[in-house]
Order: sequence, then C-alpha cells, then structure tokens
Amino acid sequence: MFLDRVKPLDAILATAEKKSLKRSLGWFQLTLLGIGCVIGTGIFVLTSVGAQKAGPGLMIAFLIAGLVCIVAALCYAEIASMIPVAGSAYTYSYATISEFFAWTVGWALIMEYAIAASAVSVGWSGYFTGTILGGLGISLPAWLSAGPLVFGGAEGGLINLPALIIALLVTWLLVVGTSESAKVNAVLVVVKVTALLAFLAITLTSSEFSMERFNPFLPAGVFGGWGSGVGAVGAAATMFFAYVGFDAVSTAAEETKDPQKNVPIGLIGSLLFCTVFYILVAAGAIGTLGGQPILDAMGLPLEAGSQELARQCAMPQYVDALVCSNEPLAHVLKVLGFSWIGNAVGLAAIIALPSVILVLIFGQTRIFFVMSRDGLLPERLSTVHPKYKTPHIVTMITGVAVAVAAAFFPVGKLADISNAGTLYAFLMVAVAVMVLRKNDPERKRHFRVPFVWIVAPATIIGCVLLFFNLPIEAMLFLPVWGVVGVVIYFLYSRSHSHLGRGIVEVVDDIGGEEKMIPINTPDT
Ligand code: ALA
Repeated sequence: MFLDRVKPLDAILATAEKKSLKRSLGWFQLTLLGIGCVIGTGIFVLTSVGAQKAGPGLMIAFLIAGLVCIVAALCYAEIASMIPVAGSAYTYSYATISEFFAWTVGWALIMEYAIAASAVSVGWSGYFTGTILGGLGISLPAWLSAGPLVFGGAEGGLINLPALIIALLVTWLLVVGTSESAKVNAVLVVVKVTALLAFLAITLTSSEFSMERFNPFLPAGVFGGWGSGVGAVGAAATMFFAYVGFDAVSTAAEETKDPQKNVPIGLIGSLLFCTVFYILVAAGAIGTLGGQPILDAMGLPLEAGSQELARQCAMPQYVDALVCSNEPLAHVLKVLGFSWIGNAVGLAAIIALPSVILVLIFGQTRIFFVMSRDGLLPERLSTVHPKYKTPHIVTMITGVAVAVAAAFFPVGKLADISNAGTLYAFLMVAVAVMVLRKNDPERKRHFRVPFVWIVAPATIIGCVLLFFNLPIEAMLFLPVWGVVGVVIYFLYSRSHSHLGRGIVEVVDDIGGEEKMIPINTPDT
C-alpha cells in the first residue's frame, strides 16, 4: 500500500530540540506577527471583488471566512505546539497521515503560498499604478498595466509590468538574505492599521454614509449556486484570502514563551482583530460609495475578473463604482473628496504589501526546502548559497514563477486558486489533529483544542463549504494540479524519498549540519 509511510514523530521532534530556539515571543508580538502577515491585498484590493460577488453581503462574507479561519487556527495551534518545525501543514501530515498525503499537502501549499504571492503582487500593482503613477500624472499604457482580457485582465492589456517587477524585486531581497524582522513587521503593522483606522474614521462619520446603500443587502443571495462563486458564501470563499497567512504564527510556536496560552491568543487575537476590522471597513466603503454589483441581463452579478465586467467598468456610468476599482479603499476616499488621505492610504498599501509578498515567497521556499531535504524533490533545490546562506535556487525558481503568474492573471482569479489550495491544507491539518489525538493521546501538547471533536469537524465542514463555493475554475484547479502532483510523486518522489530509503534527517535549519539517522521503515 502507498499510504504506509509515516515519518516518526520522534525524529521530527529531535529536529525541534536541536534547533532549541530561545522562547522570547509573548502574546503581543505573536498577535502583531499575525496581523502583519494577514492584512494585505484581501482588504486593500479584493474588497471590490467581494462587493461584486455579494454586494453589502460582503460584511457577512468576512464574518463567515473569519469563523472558518478561527476554528482552523485552533487546530493549527495544537499541532504546532506539538510539532514546532518548519514545513507547516506538510510536516504535520507527514507525521500523522502518510507521506503520500503530506506530498499532496505540500503540493497544495504551492497553490497557497506562491499563487497568493502573485495575487498580492497584482494587488500592489493596482495601488502603485493608481497612487504613485496616477499622482505623478503618468498613465501606464493599458498593455503594460494588466494581463490580457482573455485571462480577465483589462481591455488592451498584455502584461502587468509593475506586478512582475515587484515580485522579482522581493525575490532578489530574499536571495540576498533579507527576512522579516520583528521590528520592521511592527512598523508595517502600525502603517497598515493607521491607514485602515483613517479610512474608518472618515467613512463611518461621513455625511455621505447612508443605510439606504445597504439595500438590497444580499443582491445575489446567501448561496449564489454551486460553482458560481457569488452570493455571501461565494464572496466568503474569495475573501478567505484576506485571512491567509495566519499560519505563520503557528510556526513560531517553538519561539514562544508559555505557548499553551500565548499561541492561541496570538492566533485567535489577530484573526478576531482582522475580522472586526474587515467588517467595519466593508461597512465604511459600502455605506459611503455603495457596493452593489453590476448585474447581467438575468439579474445576476457579472463574474469578477470577466471580460464583460471589464467592458462594463470601462463605461462612463461606472467610473466611480466600488466594484470596478483596483484600489478600492483609496478610491472611496478620493471620491469622498479626501484625495490626500486616499493617497496616504494608497501609499500605506504600497509600503506594506511587499512584506506580505516576502512572507509568502519565504514560506514557499521553506516548504520546497523541507520537501527537497526529505528527498521528495531534487536535493539540488535546497542548495544553500555560499555567500548569502539562502536557498537561492529554489527562491529564484519560485520568484520567477510568482512573477510570471502575476504578470498575466488578475488578482481575483489568483486569490481564488490560492484559496482552493489553502482550504485543502487546512482540512488536512484538522484531520491530522484528530489522528494524533487518537493515535498518540499521551504525548504532551502545549495547547489542546477545546472540544476537539466539534472544532476539528467544524473546520473540515467550513473548508468544504468554502471550497464548493469557489468559482468553478478555481475549484477544478486543485484536482488538476493534484493529478500532476500525484504523477510526479509516483515517477520521482516515492523512489527518492529519504524515509522510503530508510533515513531521516534531524536538522531543520537552512545551512545547518545534517545528520542522517537510519530508521526501520519497510519500503514497499
Ligand atoms: N492575507 C494576505 C492578503 O490579504 C495574503 O494579502
């Protein structure tokens, strides 16, 4: 059977022990870390996509996506407190379910991290083009500012040059060894939160704010229909992207003081904070500018990122529409007459979003690194640069792929595809928590999910619900991508796997010394 290979948890834990990082993080730093990784393109850019899918129901969408993430976060907290090593959901699955499923999770995490990095790059491009170039009176030709119409870009679009450049720039920073520092993260969190607070202060107190604009509240209903991607739950499946990245907090479990208390506070605290903030920001945008979707002849919202929507948005009557803007938060403030604050919010997005791209590409390279060190991907990929001490080969491959996807695809489609992969990974983490509770009930857990037999199944149900409300092409991407992954697994990874060959490394650090431990694993 091919599901027999499970990595011994003790070997993985030996890794963590060897690393023995100093426990220095408290709940406040963890919450800041979470907010720093989470607030990005989702709220700054996808607000318009979410409004096109659900109208004012966008507020419910944020609530639903936030709740799914909170239950998933509890599962992450328990398993990260037991297995505090790199590789996140991939490593957790390797230790619990099997190498094969771990491979599929690692493969799906490429969708989560790399494609999310592309989405954030495209989001950054919208603000850069609108705020910086627009502010300087420079208008980038259509063919250089968006992907082609057939992929859902703009009329006359060919390549999104700013998105391509920012992705390559961040990749270069990672190759030469830049990493997120806690101090820079704290500053960027202040920048982002201040921008959003300014947005709230202006919109929620504006004389333009009217409850009328929330009517109809659910123009596309709660469920827009299977695979349609519209309605409140369809929008939740997209806005889920606004919460992606919180898993970074769980990977810091090993560096946390009193993790039993601080990891769940950091995870849940940052998610609750973002959920409340997002709902208020959506209320501010819709209450002042309106957020009703542009409908087709049947009265259904036009598909976000579709050619038809791009055409409609080019019409003069939609020049101010929230659902047509690439920089919706700045746009709302500009339309309300607060141009300079709108520009400041745009600037905040331009300054802060690259750090989200950095965290995502970094996370991706870490997962590739661990997979290649396990022998499932060619070991050459984890070669460390002699001078910069970074896994430069895998970083460059990832960065170029991220940049190419960012250059040609619109942000909404990229976010949906990324969400499909993330939902699969979250689901597997919930399964892994239950498997470990059954198979290894005595092992010490620094944090235990309360009511695990309710919370873990609720995570699974939430992930399945959101997955089946993604647009059909994002939904199909996962199995197609999965089949490619399974073929690679059986053609390459299975026979090269270190575990299959009877060896497990116990070093986790990039550039660290490797020590091979022979283990007794029957290879079949
Ligand atoms: N949650 C991150 C964002 O919205 C990925 O940009």
